[in-house]
Amino acid sequence: MSEDIQRLDKAVSSVFSLTRSEAKKAIRAGSVTVNGVALRDGALQVDPSKDVLALNGKTAQWRKFVYIMMNKPAGYLSATEDKACATVLDLLSPQDIKRGVFPAGRLDKDSEGFLLLTDDGNFAHEMISPKKHVPKRYVVSLDHSACDDDIAAFKSGITLDDGYLCMSAGLEILPDCRAAVTLVEGKFHQVKRMFEARGNKVLYLKRVSIGNLQLDDSLALGESRYITDEELLLLKGENV
Ligand code: URA
Repeated sequence: MSEDIQRLDKAVSSVFSLTRSEAKKAIRAGSVTVNGVALRDGALQVDPSKDVLALNGKTAQWRKFVYIMMNKPAGYLSATEDKACATVLDLLSPQDIKRGVFPAGRLDKDSEGFLLLTDDGNFAHEMISPKKHVPKRYVVSLDHSACDDDIAAFKSGITLDDGYLCMSAGLEILPDCRAAVTLVEGKFHQVKRMFEARGNKVLYLKRVSIGNLQLDDSLALGESRYITDEELLLLKGENV
């Protein structure tokens, strides 16, 4: 039996972004069809991964999980709640929040760029786990330009202030005291602390890609969109 089978009112509420009571009302009014047949009992079981649901004749795609690309602005915590500070969830729609999405990985409060949010716990684990080696690329502005010795040190593994030996990381020197860093792990403030260990300081940090998926540059700061099935493969580091 499909694990996606659920009550019609629950499925309608999730597919058409309605509250449960709005979904029940629409079903009672005969506005909902399942495979072309109007069903008026919200307790009936449907499989939204196979059955075609329509509201007032319009169909919509059911998503088992959602995967969101956000261009995170500075000033927001990568968390689901905080007493004092705004979180990245404050930038999402109520429907996505209701689904229980959470950030898969974090960016510091003052960092910007590609933040992945999902309600798929297994996928989030795959993205975050250092064992999976999913590369994340950051562009930083530095106090002063990085040098060739920094490239060699990043490659052989930087030791952080707490004694942690980082995995090998990529460093590319860019013009105007900027650099691009590629990490396959994500320790607390890692990029900033790696440059600190080299006597430099990160003044600005933006994540530009995860796996083989680049941040969509049409997303303004604070905007987000769903990741497509093809992009999901890129996220996992596959080439499509
Ligand atoms: N490394 C940092 O120092 N900060 C971030 O936000 C991400 C990586």
